[in-house]
Amino acid sequence: MFNDVAIRLRGVSKRYYLGSPVGEGFKHLILHLPSQIKALRQRRPFHALTDVSFDVRRGECVSLIGRNGAGKSTTLSLIAGVLRASAGKVETYGRICPLLELGAGFNHQLTGRENILLNGVLLGLTRREVRQRTAQIIEFSELHDFIDAPLRTYSSGMVVRLGFSVAVHLDPDILLIDEVLAVGDARFRTKCFERMEHFRRRGTTMIFVSHDTGSVSRISDRVALFDAGRLIDIGEPGRIIDAYQQRSLAA
Ligand SMILES: Nc1ncnc2c1ncn2[C@@H]1O[C@H](COP(=O)(O)OP(=O)(O)OP(=O)(O)O)[C@@H](O)[C@H]1O
Ligand SMILES: [Mg+2]
Repeated sequence: MFNDVAIRLRGVSKRYYLGSPVGEGFKHLILHLPSQIKALRQRRPFHALTDVSFDVRRGECVSLIGRNGAGKSTTLSLIAGVLRASAGKVETYGRICPLLELGAGFNHQLTGRENILLNGVLLGLTRREVRQRTAQIIEFSELHDFIDAPLRTYSSGMVVRLGFSVAVHLDPDILLIDEVLAVGDARFRTKCFERMEHFRRRGTTMIFVSHDTGSVSRISDRVALFDAGRLIDIGEPGRIIDAYQQRSLAA
């Protein structure tokens, strides 16, 4: 079915229960049953995201901005399918490559090369398809000397290099990028940014989360401003970035 929408959120909310006794394990729950039942009744919901609705059209790049804890990463995780919404509906069309947080989806005991295979297969490629792309992935990451060393020996920036290299070589229809580029060195950041612009020209749908308003205004078609778990406004980058800066000054 032809569908011009790549991502659709309708009335999406995410609640967490703070002080939930289940968090301490089921053994603890059983051993302290009466007090735990009382605690369960008293647990407080925390609204990480409230009634968020927006669409991302195919080929569009939308950036999410807002203060720490505003709900940007939560939104991205819901779109990636890593988290499930407490209410509302998230629809996505196409193969998603998420670059969520540092090293998410990687196994730190495995080598860089093994992680490329693991991630590629997890994201829906066959082993053969991953093998065909491994040389390009290593080339882009520039990690030749370390590719057969376990990931736990990598620096943060090296993990990011590997994550970004894998994601951009998997022909994503939808690319989700959370902040991660910030830990890469200046040269690699530039290279990643050029690659993102290439994806944009090619019509890949992108969601980019960043505190760097310069990069955001350069790459985005539209920007969404979040505050305290709500989508405040979405629209033309210049206008939304201005609104964010005004709010930050007023706060
Ligand atoms: N597992 C969790 N349990 C309880 N609260 C959580 C959990 N994960 C996130 N939150 C809360 O949800 C809110 C939104 O978090 P989120 O990570 O989406 O913010 P963000 O906009 O990405 O912030 P930042 O700019 O710091 O990355 C925060 O208040 C956070 O404390
Ligand atoms: Mg975040």
